[in-house]
Amino acid sequence: MAGLFITLEGPEGAGKSTNRDFLATRLQALGQRVVLTREPGGTPLAERIREVLLEPTDEPMCSDTELLLMFAARAQHLDRVIRPALADNAIVLCDRFTDATYAYQGGGRGLAMSRIAELEAFVQAELRPDLTLVFDLPIEIGLERARARGRLDRFEQEDARFFDAVRTTYLQRASREPSRYHVIDAAQSLDAVQQTLEALLPALIERRHA
Ligand SMILES: Nc1ncnc2c1ncn2[C@@H]1O[C@H](COP(=O)(O)OP(=O)(O)OP(=O)(O)O)[C@@H](O)[C@H]1O
Ligand SMILES: [Mg+2]
Repeated sequence: MAGLFITLEGPEGAGKSTNRDFLATRLQALGQRVVLTREPGGTPLAERIREVLLEPTDEPMCSDTELLLMFAARAQHLDRVIRPALADNAIVLCDRFTDATYAYQGGGRGLAMSRIAELEAFVQAELRPDLTLVFDLPIEIGLERARARGRLDRFEQEDARFFDAVRTTYLQRASREPSRYHVIDAAQSLDAVQQTLEALLPALIERRHA
């Protein structure tokens, strides 16, 4: 497949969305064609699944339902947006992807990682991100940023143990496959984070022409 598939990961308030937009602007200024998207969601139908996933409800959602909805939304998103964009040689910048499923449903909810890997193989076949940026920061700082934004969604209402497991899972995955992941200290100022991202751009563009 052509194109370049970049995912942005990390806990609540880490700066994924802010920096996805920053990267898009910078890459476009360098003449690159960029498709901006997010998970869960990224198509009208997948965004409806996102609402089901994020909306706090009286009926507790069982973890398997949550996992399957994540991959149901992902199947739609891959088919309608990600695969066509990559085939069309675009740079896809995706705010959260399957690493978030490992971190939240695997780490946070405690579902078996092997189960997630089976669904990953089923829904994605061979497709994996070319690069995953992990925005890492102490949980309290991220939650503070998220809280400042207002009402908390179903995930943001989880406890410290849940978010510790999310963070740990991201870092473990990054350390096992350093060629794909780039961990960014997201507790730094936004300016410092964006300088780090800026420094990655030449290698990214190089990779597209490789
Ligand atoms: N390095 C930073 N320093 C200070 N504030 C930041 C930094 N990065 C982002 N912010 C601010 O923190 C808030 C959350 O950032 P953002 O929405 O990009 O995070 P996110 O990772 O997308 O969060 P979520 O997972 O909840 O969508 C925003 O108000 C943003 O301006
Ligand atoms: Mg966001």
